Amino acid sequence: ASLADLDTTVPGAHRVQDRTQAASPAATDHFENTPDTDPAVAANRGWGREILAKSETSALGQATVDASVIATEGELDTVIDSTVAAGTSWGTMSGAERAAILHRAGDALEARRADLMEVSAAETGKTLDQSDPEISEAIDFAHYYAELAKELDDVDGATYAPVKLTVVVPPWNFPVAIPAGSTLAALAAGSPVIIKPSRQARRSGAVMVEALWEAGVPRDVLSFVQLADNALGERMISHPSVERVILTGGYETAELFRSFRKDLPLLAETSGKNAIIVTPSADLDLAVKDVVASAFGHAGQKCSAASLVVLVGSVATSQRFRNQLLDAVSSLAVGYPADATTQMGPIIEPARGKLKNALTSIESGQTWLIEPRQLDDSGKLWSPGVRDGVQRGSEYHRVEYFGPILGIMTAKTLDEAIAIVNDIDYGLTSGLHSLDAGEINQWLTHIEAGNLYVNRGTTGAIVQRQPFGGWKKSAVGAGTKAGGPNYLIGLGTWTPAEARI
Ligand code: SER
Repeated sequence: ASLADLDTTVPGAHRVQDRTQAASPAATDHFENTPDTDPAVAANRGWGREILAKSETSALGQATVDASVIATEGELDTVIDSTVAAGTSWGTMSGAERAAILHRAGDALEARRADLMEVSAAETGKTLDQSDPEISEAIDFAHYYAELAKELDDVDGATYAPVKLTVVVPPWNFPVAIPAGSTLAALAAGSPVIIKPSRQARRSGAVMVEALWEAGVPRDVLSFVQLADNALGERMISHPSVERVILTGGYETAELFRSFRKDLPLLAETSGKNAIIVTPSADLDLAVKDVVASAFGHAGQKCSAASLVVLVGSVATSQRFRNQLLDAVSSLAVGYPADATTQMGPIIEPARGKLKNALTSIESGQTWLIEPRQLDDSGKLWSPGVRDGVQRGSEYHRVEYFGPILGIMTAKTLDEAIAIVNDIDYGLTSGLHSLDAGEINQWLTHIEAGNLYVNRGTTGAIVQRQPFGGWKKSAVGAGTKAGGPNYLIGLGTWTPAEARI
């Protein structure tokens, strides 16, 4: 690889100039990445402030859709049977017919961008700079998987059959893009879907599903359910009609799901403990900016977030990187998204357990470069923390905390830094800041993670350009990368079995 081969595209580089003037989208019939909103344009800032003002006053739990709350085993079995039955006609449509509906779904999501950002701010504390690209990603999934659905029509010498039923279990931290992506992929592949939104982000999921229904996805092919208790969840994923479960969540949840059913057909994207390595050849200003965005965007509550930075050689021994990092992190404005000046929002639930521990204590040998502070009584608002002196093999080196904490590690050489990162059981995203082609090649060859980013942050994968998925304990079950060319393959069966594998 040379530098010229590397995709260093900056997310959001292609932006909409004036969101208030954006024409209603023409019926889309192809894929291209959807532009984010340009916050440098004054009209867009006004548009954003209106969203936040509404978000502040909206009461939780006022979803306009009639999400069924399933309370009994009988009700659950009825929804499963009716979704499977409705799926037969969906699965026998041509890929091109399904693609037309999915393209309309992408347009419907675009038309509801402001609504989706509003509920996402209210439910998950996302600031607009975090939710706007997330809506773009959801729209991208619709148009991208629509185009892949068309390809299912031209399979030579093999028969493709969609699975009978897909269950989607999304997390709360990307309350629109992740449920949308999993659902749209399964629909594109011809499978009916039952989606169970996360408890904390039910309205965001509801508005997303409503947009898909408005676009022509039949209501009985896409069932949106809430389950009254966990026993029903176990029953749902253990049901023999469920032929795929797409889970995005913690590694422990994937293990729990597998304990429910031995032959669980699981596609799970799970936890991460991600690091960015910075070598002496790096552009340190860019490295600081990318480390801060990767560690503290959405208060670190992303499986893709960087929670470690590994400084190599003179970057470790001089104070320049640390001083710039300290300035950048301590100047972050922390608050709720309703305040337009907020740069880092709240954590979704009051800090407790291992996150609280990581925010309030350090292991021996570590020091706070910036000590986190609890900023209000809710327990949700914390200033960001940076701990220095994280040792190889320490708890902080290995454990995912899912919060606004960054640890600094040091290495004498790039080899040692790579070994430090590969020691971690997870392997979701990984970053390198270096301007040396030899170093980049070495890192690309040896680092163990699903998504590798050079001179870019570790969050915000772009559909098609950066298909997203993990390695090691960051992926459980057979799976290919979301937003990539092979994702639909895992959502159907092929005869002969080796046809597409
Ligand atoms: N796809 C998201 C990201 O890249 C994580 O789910 O940040």
